[in-house]
Amino acid sequence: MKAVRFYSYGGPEVLKIEGVDLPQPGAGEVRIAVKAAGVNPIDWKLRSGYLHAMMPLAFPAGVGFDAAGVVDAIGEGVTGVSVGDAIFGKGHATMAEYAILDEWAHKPDGLSFEEAGGYGVAVETATRIIAQVGVKPGETLLVSGAAGGVGLAVIQLAKAAGIRTIGTASEQKHDYLRSMGAIPTAYGPGLAERVAALAPAGVHAALDIAGSGILPELVAITGDSSKVLSISDISAPEHGVKTSFENIDATPALARAAALFTAGSFTLPVERTFPLDQVAAAHELSAQGRVTGRLVITIG
Ligand SMILES: NC(=O)c1ccc[n+]([C@@H]2O[C@H](COP(=O)([O-])OP(=O)(O)OC[C@H]3O[C@@H](n4cnc5c(N)ncnc54)[C@H](OP(=O)(O)O)[C@@H]3O)[C@@H](O)[C@H]2O)c1
Repeated sequence: MKAVRFYSYGGPEVLKIEGVDLPQPGAGEVRIAVKAAGVNPIDWKLRSGYLHAMMPLAFPAGVGFDAAGVVDAIGEGVTGVSVGDAIFGKGHATMAEYAILDEWAHKPDGLSFEEAGGYGVAVETATRIIAQVGVKPGETLLVSGAAGGVGLAVIQLAKAAGIRTIGTASEQKHDYLRSMGAIPTAYGPGLAERVAALAPAGVHAALDIAGSGILPELVAITGDSSKVLSISDISAPEHGVKTSFENIDATPALARAAALFTAGSFTLPVERTFPLDQVAAAHELSAQGRVTGRLVITIG
């Protein structure tokens, strides 16, 4: 089968499409014929070596952590899924014609493979960080970096849980954020004043998704560093802010996203799709940091 791999850290040009053996599902895993795989910032951060200290790679390395497709082999001990089922979820080396998923949910009929391929990482991350930041129904959550994959998942899952969100994005994305259920505001100077005007009773917690160096402002806005959580800023501990990098079991979160999609309360729109042989261009676009929703590689 064809798979994206690379043999050393470097720019997008290190990505190769190679013929490799089919991966075999281990216990608790399934193999899918991949229809679509999401592009995440972690893909280019790993490829460039930026995350080497935290997540060193063994070479050759595969690319991609989420996908949607059709089950074609089932590992030991797996129940509730059959060969031929359409599923989506999280796995490894998903930018390939076949990939192993270790956490998945059935794809609702109305959900396209392209969109579902971009759910795994964003849905798991959003579910985890809403729980960890400690915000409750009826409270207000400030989301710094609301228009990307994780941010859009956060604002919709928060809304479904009865949590109000104020989301930051550039001005031209404000109507879009509003349509997803957030109260939009611009990032940059004056954020505290804008947030105070939108939430006179204050915000209960804040998520730093964009990692844009605004932790001191988020601490000042919430009034307490323990009410701020970052998924992107490794300097967070210097500000007394907790980080979240460890994945949780995504299975319940994926099933919940599928149910919310079916109920019309969840979507992660795909800004652009790329064929497998343009994965380098997808990495370049992701690394520019301006994606709205998701980028997805389509396969097969
Ligand atoms: N720790 C973890 O477990 C974990 C898991 C998943 C992702 N992450 C990290 O979280 C970050 C976001 O991931 P993602 O998938 O959501 O990325 P993404 O989809 O590429 O996010 C792009 C969005 O970020 C926004 N943005 C850029 N600069 C901003 C700023 N200064 N303030 C507010 N928004 C800004 C952009 O909006 P504008 O165009 O309007 O600026 C754009 O819509 C990445 O760094 C990723 O590596 C961490």
